[in-house]
Amino acid sequence: MTTIGTPKELSAGENRVAMTPQSAKELQKLGFDCVIQSGAGDAARFSDSEYENAGVKVVKTAAALWKGADVIAKVRPTTTAESKKMRDGQTIISFVYPAENKKLMETAKTAGSTLIAMDMVPRISRAQKMDALSSTANIAGYRAVIEASNSFGRFFTGQVTAAGKVPPAKVLVIGAGVAGLAAIGAAQSMGAIVRAFDVRPEVAEQIESMGAEFLFLDFNESGSGDGGYAAPSSPEFREKQLELFRQQAPEIDIVITTALIPGRDAPKLWLKDMVEAMKPGSVIVDLAAERGGNCDLTKKDEKIETPNGVTIIGYTDLASRMATQASTLYATNVRHMMTDLTPEKDGVIVQNMEDDVIRGSTVAHAREITFPPPPPKIQAIAKAPPKAPEPTKEEIAAKEAAEIQKSGIREILMLACGGLVMLIIGAYAPASFMQHMIVFALACFVGFQVIWNVSHALHTPLMSITNAISGIIVLGALLQIGSSSWIVVILAAISVFIATINIVGGFMVTRRMLAMFQKS
Ligand code: NAI
Repeated sequence: MTTIGTPKELSAGENRVAMTPQSAKELQKLGFDCVIQSGAGDAARFSDSEYENAGVKVVKTAAALWKGADVIAKVRPTTTAESKKMRDGQTIISFVYPAENKKLMETAKTAGSTLIAMDMVPRISRAQKMDALSSTANIAGYRAVIEASNSFGRFFTGQVTAAGKVPPAKVLVIGAGVAGLAAIGAAQSMGAIVRAFDVRPEVAEQIESMGAEFLFLDFNESGSGDGGYAAPSSPEFREKQLELFRQQAPEIDIVITTALIPGRDAPKLWLKDMVEAMKPGSVIVDLAAERGGNCDLTKKDEKIETPNGVTIIGYTDLASRMATQASTLYATNVRHMMTDLTPEKDGVIVQNMEDDVIRGSTVAHAREITFPPPPPKIQAIAKAPPKAPEPTKEEIAAKEAAEIQKSGIREILMLACGGLVMLIIGAYAPASFMQHMIVFALACFVGFQVIWNVSHALHTPLMSITNAISGIIVLGALLQIGSSSWIVVILAAISVFIATINIVGGFMVTRRMLAMFQKS
């Protein structure tokens, strides 16, 4: 049987683990035997006994684990010492950062191992469940707010107390990707006033939908690049952007910077003079510290205080500081990757290099370096289509007039056709039938007009009305169902059946809608 094993992480301060008892249970369903090095989950609060209870074999040493496992699942890239243990046919899954880790790919190539980089999973919808970069960024964004509040000497939320009025903290998030949006959500929920900026104009809607204010830059340039990422800005755009930040600096209490452009050093966006313009006690959390930082004064992995009393946090291990959560999400990402790699759920890995996700994340295979991958066949995030020029007021008025005229003509035509049909039926049908027929036709017409024109926001009250109408139909049908004519009985039964579906369906939809607003 194929064995998947997770060793203890060797990097100092790394608390995460690539397999959790829960993910191990799922891996076993895929046909794998699971092994873990003793103590590997301790820092993330998963004990050896929890693993054993989940059916995982606990081995004492890393050497034994590497020797026995056909698949190794890790968090950090394999260290030089670990890579000596790689062997032919073994698959190693971890973060790899292949652009900066050529040596590791060479070692895997020579050893004949397959190296799968969780950081190379293409950002297509199907692969979201394996997107370890997003899971990590999400945690980092949340944790950045927690770290900021820990170093900030005030409440986030505004308060009016007997002891005085407390203004809410003002938070500025620069870069509203995955981490930035998580930071906006966390700061917003703690009651701060949140502002955000991004070079990609399409995120303005996401920022505003989270209740934050999008800082709009009046400049005709989009910073959107390929795959949902940013492209480098022009010097003129950068100047405008810095001017905007310079205006914000004296007002803002907390700055969280997350701005990154793939394959480049982090752009410098919060300059020394902006730090100097901030109030004492303000906090900057630089999530781009790993890549040189967005702030001029950031020191990687350190928390410093400037002479004017501004705290700058440059930690690069924010996800590891929430090791239990980070391990749970990462282990789930790895488990989903294994699901794609074992299509038959029989523990047999199929390295299908035609599959976009597997191809994109495989950086060494069959004694070849397979990085960089070809672009995925499915485009990642489509570039926002160029916006059509805004219509003028006159154009809008002319368009509305034309639409009213068009719909008016359509209604007159419909009425004329309806009238004609009635005339033809009336010429042959008995008078009593005609009376019912006209009521029925009018009910259909009025019902159609009423229901079709109700805006989506009013669908819940609309549903109550249609439920009430359905109730009346059921009542009427029940009165008729005892009729001596079998046609009336059948029609009444059909009415009861259809109206009941409408009522039950209405309640079900209402329940679902209410559930969307309930916090579990
Ligand atoms: P990232 O970590 O590369 O960049 C963070 C943010 O910084 C981006 O929003 C970028 O536009 C912004 N930025 C870059 N230069 C800037 C500057 N000079 N000033 C201000 N902001 C700047 O990006 P991340 O968070 O990894 O993802 C970016 C986007 O990718 C997401 O917003 C999303 O649309 C997309 N995505 C899609 C996924 C999928 O469909 N599977 C999964 C994850 C992300």
